Formats: sequence, structure tokens, C-alpha cells
Amino acid sequence: SPGFLALTPPPTPLPSSSSRCPTGGDSALSQEALETLAEEAGFSGSEGRSLAFTRAASVLKALPGQLSALEEGQALGSGLSLSLGQDVLEDGVSVEVERVKLSERYRTMKLFTKIFGVGVRTASRWYQEGIRTLVDLQERNTKLTRQQQAGLQHYEDLNTPVERGEAESIGRMVQEAVQRFLPGASVTLAGGFRRGKPRGHDVDLLLTHPEAGREAGLLSAVCLSPHQGLILYQHSQENSFALHEGPEPPGGRDVLDRFERCFSIFRLEVQGRPGAARGWKAVRVDLVVAPVGQFPFALLGWTGSRHFERELRRFAGHERKMVLNSHTLYDTRLNLFLPAASEEEIFQHLGLEYVPPTQRNA
Ligand code: TTP
Ligand code: MN
Ligand code: MN
Ligand code: MN
Repeated sequence: SPGFLALTPPPTPLPSSSSRCPTGGDSALSQEALETLAEEAGFSGSEGRSLAFTRAASVLKALPGQLSALEEGQALGSGLSLSLGQDVLEDGVSVEVERVKLSERYRTMKLFTKIFGVGVRTASRWYQEGIRTLVDLQERNTKLTRQQQAGLQHYEDLNTPVERGEAESIGRMVQEAVQRFLPGASVTLAGGFRRGKPRGHDVDLLLTHPEAGREAGLLSAVCLSPHQGLILYQHSQENSFALHEGPEPPGGRDVLDRFERCFSIFRLEVQGRPGAARGWKAVRVDLVVAPVGQFPFALLGWTGSRHFERELRRFAGHERKMVLNSHTLYDTRLNLFLPAASEEEIFQHLGLEYVPPTQRNA
């Protein structure tokens, strides 16, 4: 298992007097079950519970082989039993997961949050207004943002996994556009694909140039001029990061980075798609521009997984008193920024063995 995850304190073991396993004694405590419970907790606004389930799912994934329910319970710790609650402990996890999956609220929330641009708050409001289907949304003339309109319009495509080959084609398209505008600039595939996943929900591309400053404005070249017609939707944001603002306080909320970026939907030509009436598919693409000095931090941050990043940043703060984000690493004891020319150097600064991208799927 990845170095730093093993360095984090082990979960509190259950009291040995407890003869009952914390998961109701059924053996259905799977990663998938815990992920469903995490999702449901997120839908009800219980971030803490959601995180406990996500952590437990991740621990379970890292455990080798089949464990007995009792062993699982011990490995997962008592935090999980608290999150599950007494009734679930009595009825069993699989009963609870089935109940969740069948509930109208969970199913509707899942349907709505799968619309690009719709989060838990919006989905929850629509649910309370009695909206239940995508057709309801259209028929009731629900007020939608431009992003949500695009999300609804391309709902099916955007919820169809992006294959690695498709991600690579888009990478090449962007690479060509970038080269035309700024020779020497590079495009790197980040996100789940860099972690070796065969498919994903979007394509994450990181742009930079070996000379600091030359990368500025690169995004408008890709997102606007030469690819009009290929880009179905885009929402750009300028770089708002300034080093003189200083680092974010350790232990604070996960801060989104402030790179120049573009959340977009590309129109990708696809040949011979079985049963498809048209020869193209809508694909979500995140484009991010990083100045070369911040590139290793941006690459580390945008490779994910989200859970891996959260744990790594927590480790940096708690164990090293350092603030890690997608721009910099700051040592609060020495009061200085620790520069890095590669991801390897960032792990070195943190006193950790290098974790290659394929081992960051936690
Ligand atoms: P995602 O693209 O959401 O997830 P993923 O690539 O791991 O998986 P999927 O196949 O579902 O796309 O995010 C990739 C990484 O980008 C993730 O570690 C978080 C990071 N990220 C930021 O750092 N800032 C942001 O604003 C966003 C949206 C993501
Ligand atoms: Mn992604
Ligand atoms: Mn995702
Ligand atoms: Mn993304």
C-alpha cells in the first residue's frame, strides 16, 4: 500500500470485549456498499459521515483478500460503526444499502447530480419541489444555468464512460492547437487516465511551457479560435493565484486551485459507433494551465484521486506542518516555500517514498 497511507495512525480497534462485529455480521461489507453509503451521506449533507464511509471504502480496497466480518470491523475501526448507526448495526449493512438504493430520494438525487453543473444543493431543491425526472425538468421550464443546459442536452454522452483511446485523441487535438499557438508548449494527460484507469468521466489536460510566463493566454487559443464547432460548451476562468497572498492555513478546507482553466465539452468524432445515429460524441474536458514552476504541484494535484490528494494534504499538514496545494508546498516551521522540479521532489520534501500515479487510486 502507498507509503504515507501506511504512516497515518491505524484506526482505533474495537474493544476486544465486543463479541458482535460492527457491521451486523453480514458479509456484504463491500467497497461498493460503502461507496453507496458515502454517496447517500453526501446527498443528505452529512460531509463527515460521507468522509468516514469513503475512508472505510478505501481501507477495504487496500486490505488483501477476503476477511471475516470481525476482522473487517477491526480494520475499519469504530468510527465506521458510529457512522452506520445502531439500527444499521442491528439489521446489517446489506439491508441498509438495499434500502438506500431503492429510496426515491437517493435515485432522484443520483439522476440529477449526474447532470453536468448540478450539485447536491440544486438537486435537493428540485427534489423538494417535486421534480423527479429529466422530462419534469424540461416540462416545468426549470431555470437552468448555461452549464446545466449543456449538461442536460448531452446527458447520455456525458454519462457514458470516456475510453482511453478517446482521451488520447482529445489530447492530440489539444496538443495540435497548442503547438500552433505556442510552439514548445506541452499537454499532459492527468486525472484518472494518468493513474492507469482504462476509462473515466472526463479528460483532464494540463498545459505548460518551459519558459515561465509564456503560458499566459494559452487557454483562449485552444478554447476559442481554431476549434469553434468542436467545442460544444466552455466556461473559462482566469488565473487568480498570486504568491504574495501567502499560503492557506494548514488544516483548512481543501482549497480549489486558481489556475487559468477551462471546463468544457468537446465534440469528438467517433467512427462506427454501433447503433449511433451520428458520428460524434460529447466528452467533458478540463483544461488547466500551469506556469512551469508550479507544474509538478499542479500535476500531483490534478492526477488525484481526490481521496489520495485529501490524505496526502492531511499528512503534509498534520505530520510535517507543511501546506500542500496544487500551486506550492509551504513549510510553516521554516516559513518558506519548497520548490520542486518534479513530483518525486515533492514526495522527498514530505519525507515520503515516491508513490507512482498507478498507486494513487486509493
Ligand atoms: P476528476 O476529473 O474529477 O476525477 P478523476 O480524473 O480522478 O476521475 P474521473 O475518471 O471520474 O474523471 O478530478 C481529477 C483531479 O483533479 C482530482 O484529483 C481533483 C483535481 N481537481 C482539482 O485539483 N481542482 C479542481 O477544481 C477540480 C475540478 C479537480
Ligand atoms: Mn478526470
Ligand atoms: Mn469524477
Ligand atoms: Mn476533471
